[in-house]
Amino acid sequence: MPRTLDPELRRALAARIRYYNEMGIYDFYRRETSGEVAEAAVSDAVAVPIQPESREEMSPRKAAAVAVEENIFEVLAPKPEQGVSDPAKGLKIIREDLGDCTRCPLHKQGRKQIVFGVGNPATDLMFVGEGPGADEDQQGEPFVGRAGQLLNNMIKAMGITREQVYIANIVKCRPPGNRTPEREECETCSPFLMRQIAVIKPKVVVALGAVAAKTLLAMNASMAQLRGRFYDFKPAGVRSNDPNWEGCKLAVTYHPAFLLRDPRQKGEAWKDLQMVMKELGLKAPKSTT
Ligand code: URA
Repeated sequence: MPRTLDPELRRALAARIRYYNEMGIYDFYRRETSGEVAEAAVSDAVAVPIQPESREEMSPRKAAAVAVEENIFEVLAPKPEQGVSDPAKGLKIIREDLGDCTRCPLHKQGRKQIVFGVGNPATDLMFVGEGPGADEDQQGEPFVGRAGQLLNNMIKAMGITREQVYIANIVKCRPPGNRTPEREECETCSPFLMRQIAVIKPKVVVALGAVAAKTLLAMNASMAQLRGRFYDFKPAGVRSNDPNWEGCKLAVTYHPAFLLRDPRQKGEAWKDLQMVMKELGLKAPKSTT
């Protein structure tokens, strides 16, 4: 019977995988778990609930170690898009793998449809928001409501168009009442976004708002601490099919919905975007007014 990952375990695994990825290690090979190894392994692993019927013969420590190992391989299993060089095809494979997703509670909390992402699969620039709102849920496309109109204007101010970039969200289903997605929802959904980033291989990802920034960077900090610099970013837990892709830069700026509420911060957001433009060699269009 397929088992879902315990959220604490998923967090611990994500951190462990990121650590290995940062050292350049992406390939993991399975080894039989013997009693002693299992006992040792569990000492720095996270305890997970064990199904008594399937684990009753084992000591709790050994059963936990076996569960950790099984789950590591579930997370690290090769992704079906690996080996596909066309990013559009890669995205299609990820969309098919996502299916009619029921992996987190959002699937039964009123979503109309999954909002996968939109734009140019061969872009240098990606924007990542928080999650679909009512308009996005209705239309199946990210950032099409009021915040989307402002995002379009921000993109235009950079001298490019919405069609030239790729836009996605941390969670692909609308949280009811536009509430902030729960951490568990973000962690369940974001591996698909990580895979999207790994096939698109942008030069820069812009995280729109704290939820996107904290999830992508796996870091808990305020917007004031997160903005104003680039981070070296590699999508966690996946390897790009291009061995020469070393990851990309990530910048954090304010979410357009926040800027609608507090337009005085638009100047600060523009500074963030100018930093991105410089990195990408973009020039703002000459003002027509
Ligand atoms: N806010 C987001 O974070 N994403 C959208 O797609 C729309 C609004």
